[in-house]
Amino acid sequence: MNILLLGSGGREHALAWKMAQSKKLTKLFIAPGNAGTSSCGTNVNISATDFDAVKKFVLENKISMVVVGPEDPLVKGIHDFFLADSSLKDIPVIGPVKAGAMLEGSKDFSKAFMFRHAIPTARYQTFTKDTLEQGYAFLEQLSPPYVLKADGLAAGKGVVIPNTLEEAKKELSEMLAHAKFGNASARVVIEEFLPGIELSVFVLSDGNSYKILPEAKDYKRIGEGDTGLNTGGMGAVSPVPFAGEAFMKKVEERVVIPTVNGLKKEGILYKGFIFIGLMNVKGEPFVIEYNCRMGDPETEVVIPRIKTDLVELFEHVAAGKLNSIQLETDDRVATTVMLVAGGYPDDYEKGKVMTGFEKVKDCIAFHAGTKQEGDKVVTNGGRVIALTAYGNTMEEALKRSFAAAETIAYEKKYYRKDIGKDLLKEKELF
Ligand code: AMP
Ligand code: GLY
Repeated sequence: MNILLLGSGGREHALAWKMAQSKKLTKLFIAPGNAGTSSCGTNVNISATDFDAVKKFVLENKISMVVVGPEDPLVKGIHDFFLADSSLKDIPVIGPVKAGAMLEGSKDFSKAFMFRHAIPTARYQTFTKDTLEQGYAFLEQLSPPYVLKADGLAAGKGVVIPNTLEEAKKELSEMLAHAKFGNASARVVIEEFLPGIELSVFVLSDGNSYKILPEAKDYKRIGEGDTGLNTGGMGAVSPVPFAGEAFMKKVEERVVIPTVNGLKKEGILYKGFIFIGLMNVKGEPFVIEYNCRMGDPETEVVIPRIKTDLVELFEHVAAGKLNSIQLETDDRVATTVMLVAGGYPDDYEKGKVMTGFEKVKDCIAFHAGTKQEGDKVVTNGGRVIALTAYGNTMEEALKRSFAAAETIAYEKKYYRKDIGKDLLKEKELF
């Protein structure tokens, strides 16, 4: 079958890499893709949110499945667009309808959903410009640090965690009264701070049943020791040592099952990935956030640990028959280290020529912000490339990822040298 994958990051390269191994695949197209995805299929110069262009391409190229990587097209309703069009409605879309994507598209919606279905999460209230004073009063009831979240999509920047009440009030006023994040902060969720350690849990849902995919830990800050600005993610590891069997059982019973059943009860057709950002608070899981897609760079360690044919898994999602397929996973550890452009996540330059690919050993180079220019690969984004390796232990996998990080060269390359290092000291910490 012919498949169209939407997106252009490291996540999409990892999905394309895996789908390209499927015996079910005839042709894979990636829109718009990057320099890495072109080795798994054909890149197509169409934006993932240009639904009319997607429609034209799908019909002209006999596409029989569309897999959506990023949240934007989902929150804008690409699945609904397909269902409403008589020539597209029978072509399965892997990714939820808009109402399901609101789990990511609106923090207020997702918090209310969690409370409706008794899913453990931090206490919260939502405020608008008209209830600013009540917002200040709610902040006064909480203890520091304070967690303020812009309700809508804000390119991963909409969460602020001030340490003092004064800063928190100022921040709230900037978000609500001065539209700090534009329309995304027209509503602001204020919630209790949860102390603990974070991990990402991934679920594939067919609207009825589900599979829990390998979990991962992501490293969000730019600086070593988790310091500095937030990024899209600087590296990831899977499995997560502090997510043992007992903890994952709690996650399944208290979070995954009520989430999948809650969506069903509310009549929301959810065929796709659910990414659950969790805090492990002294062994108890609390939901920090939902995303309606896979994580990046988590995908670059989760997908390599799936042995089952991904296209077959997607076919079972489309048919509502996930129950009848086995999910096989790889016991090895996978780690990924993200190379970024100097300056990221602030201003950075693009177009730096990259070298050293041919010397990379025992490692998969998943491209993120890269572009092919003639016979050269150049940087084309803040996060440039994710270097994924397997190992029998985390040390072994990390050694390979870091060796590859040294090997690939471009001007102003930066990466965190401490990915996974906190977990190696796990016995002392947990
Ligand atoms: P989000 O965009 O909701 O994932 O939030 C961004 C980051 O803020 C998360 O990855 C957490 O590190 C942190 N965060 C969000 N909510 C809370 C909370 N209630 N308690 C502690 N940290 C939080
Ligand atoms: N790595 C976090 C995310 O994809 O949102």
